[in-house]
Amino acid sequence: MAAQERPDEQVHSPEQAQLDFRQRLSYGDYLQTDVLLSAHRPITGAHDEHLFITVHHVSELWLGLIIRELGAAMALLSQGVTDTPLKMLSRVVRAQQQLTAAWEVLKTMTPADYLAFRGAFGEASGFQSAQYRMVEVLLGNRNPTLLRPHEHRPDLHGPLLAALHAPSVYDLTLRLLAARGLPIPPEVLERDFTQPPQENAAVLDAWLTVYRDPDRYWDLYELAEKLLDVEDNFRAWRFNHLTTVERTIGFKTGSGGTSGAGYLRRALGIVLFPELWQVRTAL
Ligand code: HEM
Repeated sequence: MAAQERPDEQVHSPEQAQLDFRQRLSYGDYLQTDVLLSAHRPITGAHDEHLFITVHHVSELWLGLIIRELGAAMALLSQGVTDTPLKMLSRVVRAQQQLTAAWEVLKTMTPADYLAFRGAFGEASGFQSAQYRMVEVLLGNRNPTLLRPHEHRPDLHGPLLAALHAPSVYDLTLRLLAARGLPIPPEVLERDFTQPPQENAAVLDAWLTVYRDPDRYWDLYELAEKLLDVEDNFRAWRFNHLTTVERTIGFKTGSGGTSGAGYLRRALGIVLFPELWQVRTAL
């Protein structure tokens, strides 16, 4: 062992690693870790407030990625492209799985742990997450009332409102079906996008055609199954949120003013892509 070498350097040598960052862009500089972590500001000294903030922050980062991928996929779908959007939707599905996995960490928080800091955040609630609403709107869960918490922030409200008036990922998929010669009624293609989609018999028939002949309509078939994965994962997130809420606050009202678990349980009934679920029954 060389005289100046410490024992840990023998086991875990930095090899040729760059160690001098006086003139170089470092990891922290590039990723702005100081800025990122400076957003982590617990109000109380309660141990679990750190966990609570971390899980919310991580969730917002994944939601941001999902919005970016969904937006890019939708832009390509509207041009009739399906291969790259499929790849992007696969990434959305993986990111959703990360979002859902985060509940496992949060579930280690007991009701008493939570109550130690609950008073600190008043009426703040995930109900007011602009990014979550954007994901819902892009996926087609249309409800203008849910955008109202953002009216005081035109920078958030503007893009949400624009997305509310534009086709969802499912609307764009139905346009693709029509472009391939499948009979999608004009009233479906030109529907009022501010409202949730209504189940439609002609759309179901079009999907039946695709599902009965996957080889002929392979990319549409794959797209449908990918969308189903997205909705499946969305349901899993909602369900885990509900369970986490029930085990943490029971049936108390939510900080955002809803009935709490009752409100979240009703949301489990939302169906984003109705005909994609019905086609299984009809086959
Ligand atoms: C123990 C932790 C949590 C509790 C007790 C909780 C509780 C609630 C409750 C009761 C609601 C209904 C709205 C209200 O009245 O406040 C809600 C909504 C919501 N929460 Fe949480 N939540 C927790 C963690 C999280 C986390 C980590 C996220 C991640 C971003 C999150 C995101 C949301 C979203 C997006 C909604 C709106 C859901 C909808 O409108 O369908 N929540 N939460």
